[in-house]
Amino acid sequence: MLTNLEHLGLAVKDLTAATALYTKLLGQEPYKQEHVASEAVDTVFFQVGGSKIELLAGTSPDSAITRYLEKKPEGIHHVAFEVDDIRAEMARLRAEGFQLLNEEPKRGADNKLVCFVHPKSAGGVLVELCQSIKE
Ligand code: CO
Repeated sequence: MLTNLEHLGLAVKDLTAATALYTKLLGQEPYKQEHVASEAVDTVFFQVGGSKIELLAGTSPDSAITRYLEKKPEGIHHVAFEVDDIRAEMARLRAEGFQLLNEEPKRGADNKLVCFVHPKSAGGVLVELCQSIKE
């Protein structure tokens, strides 16, 4: 089962400008900035109660975020839910007919194992499952 709404991922073109905007909007500074080389994205995270806002900017022309912003406006890119056992949830969703975008969990930002569910199988919403990596 998906538990907490872990974060909303927002696709932005200018990470510096978006960070300044969300710092003003939320009335607080981000708690983390992280480059995810495997996804070619720079991320900035804000804690908002029990959930987070993840700002995402592409760092190369073939980054998924760069390609997304060639077709769509800036804004909500994905909705991320926390899971306790990502492999079990991936198997459950596969059995329910959802199309997963990765066969195996992969390392995402903010110490998470992640898997994405194709928006075509999830009501038009790109869904991210994430499990905290305990280190
Ligand atoms: Co995310």
